[in-house]
Amino acid sequence: MPAHSKELPIDMLFPLNEAAIISKTDLNEVITFVNNEFCRVSGYTEEELLGNTHVMLNSHFHPNEFFYVMQTAISSGASWHGEICNRAKTGQLYWLNTSIFSIINKNTGQVSGYIGISFDITEKKRLELEVQSQRIQYDSVIESTDGFWHLDNDGHFIDVSERYCQLSGYSENDLLTSMISDLEAEDHKGDLMYQLSTLNESATSKVFESMHQRKDGTHWFVEILISYNVNHDNFYVFLRDISKRKLNEREQAALQQQLNHLQKLESIGRLTAGIAHDFNNILASILGYNELNKMNAEDMPDGEFRTDFLHNSAQVEIAGSRAADLIKKMLAYCRQEEEHKSNTRLDLSDVLNKILIMLHEIIPATITIESHLIDNVYITMDETDFYQIIVNLFVNARDALNNAKGTIELSIYLVDFPSHICSACHEKISGKFVEIKISDSGEGISDSKLSRIFEPFFTTKEVGEGTGLGLSVVSGIIHKMDGHILVDSELGKGTTFKLLFP
Ligand SMILES: Nc1ncnc2c1ncn2[C@@H]1O[C@H](COP(=O)(O)OP(=O)(O)OP(=O)(O)O)[C@@H](O)[C@H]1O
Ligand SMILES: [Mg+2]
Repeated sequence: MPAHSKELPIDMLFPLNEAAIISKTDLNEVITFVNNEFCRVSGYTEEELLGNTHVMLNSHFHPNEFFYVMQTAISSGASWHGEICNRAKTGQLYWLNTSIFSIINKNTGQVSGYIGISFDITEKKRLELEVQSQRIQYDSVIESTDGFWHLDNDGHFIDVSERYCQLSGYSENDLLTSMISDLEAEDHKGDLMYQLSTLNESATSKVFESMHQRKDGTHWFVEILISYNVNHDNFYVFLRDISKRKLNEREQAALQQQLNHLQKLESIGRLTAGIAHDFNNILASILGYNELNKMNAEDMPDGEFRTDFLHNSAQVEIAGSRAADLIKKMLAYCRQEEEHKSNTRLDLSDVLNKILIMLHEIIPATITIESHLIDNVYITMDETDFYQIIVNLFVNARDALNNAKGTIELSIYLVDFPSHICSACHEKISGKFVEIKISDSGEGISDSKLSRIFEPFFTTKEVGEGTGLGLSVVSGIIHKMDGHILVDSELGKGTTFKLLFP
């Protein structure tokens, strides 16, 4: 002890003995004195403790170096202060804030033993550890998520995690001065603020999905867990990047849709082929008997009866020829006439010019046809098929103009698409194509109908005016040639069909 220290007045020893845990050991650290507090806290009796060393209280919480440092200090005559974790007789751990002083022999000046004075800090330590473990848990939760925000009750940032900065491309400073809606993709602005507004004392958390926008403008899907911190009236927000999962889900849904579509087309094709085949036989027999009747009627004597008979049989013939046309379309759709096809090299501008001349027969003069054809572009296919697809599209364009004034434009392009989706088969397409574009300034097609126009028998025309097979035939022919179709339409403005030939 320093020389100028005052001696402790005797009347202060009693309260010190009551409040502190006191022990004394000899040079070999054998316990020679313990007070009541020592016995109470350690759970051992005075008899059990005296003659033993402090090793009996070792909790093994501290490494050996801890005791080595302590012993080096006190054996040299210095005092030691620190926090020690001991084990009580019951096995329970307790923490002490301890000071150990060396007892110096006045005569020899040598260390003759040690006095330990401690205070029980178990409760303080427990709270500290609890806070620390909560902090570790909190940090590990934050690190395991793809983003963490701490928001005030108005939805302003208090804190953001580094990981969210990395994933979003924003700096921490960018984020702390942003509005949450700046981070949400266009169609999702306000998602989070709305969800925050639904939380309160009785509903404190919520999980939902949203789409966010990175600093570079690209989008990513996030799953968001918000937790309302009732005590502080603010929010913890945990985000998870679910873009991969979403992409897989979307791809799977698109594939499934394509598969369903193919299966539907296949069964409609089979049904149509069956009906067309049987109906063709029935029609042959109807027309055959009608022909017989007509021949008989021609032999009848002149008169009202003969005239009626011949008129009726002519009507049967007209209806019969319409039915035969329909069967032809149905068979074309099912590609039953494969054997009659022969692929030739077609000079596109040449063939299209020929078709344009023929089209004047079926397109009224109120409609202007504009053509922008380029020479020396060739494709190889059946010429009749080619006529059929172009005429089908022109007839549709004419019908969309509904006898009003308007324009139909026909053009040829050589194109190179980075990536597109075929409007009919929904496959991804990219690469070089010969494009034939047919645009009209007609009524256009609504979004809900646009998704159905390639379905066989889908028509918006009056009964008897359209079979709904035109575009199915066009699509069938083009896809058989590994080509594709793109459609773009706006109600009231017009429609553009692009036929892509590889
Ligand atoms: N250029 C166009 N403008 C507006 N709507 C169109 C156009 N082309 C096609 N459609 C729509 O698509 C539907 C299907 O066309 P599709 O050619 O397959 O059958 P259709 O013309 O109704 O009958 P069909 O061609 O068998 O006589 C049409 O009924 C129409 O509603
Ligand atoms: Mg049509």
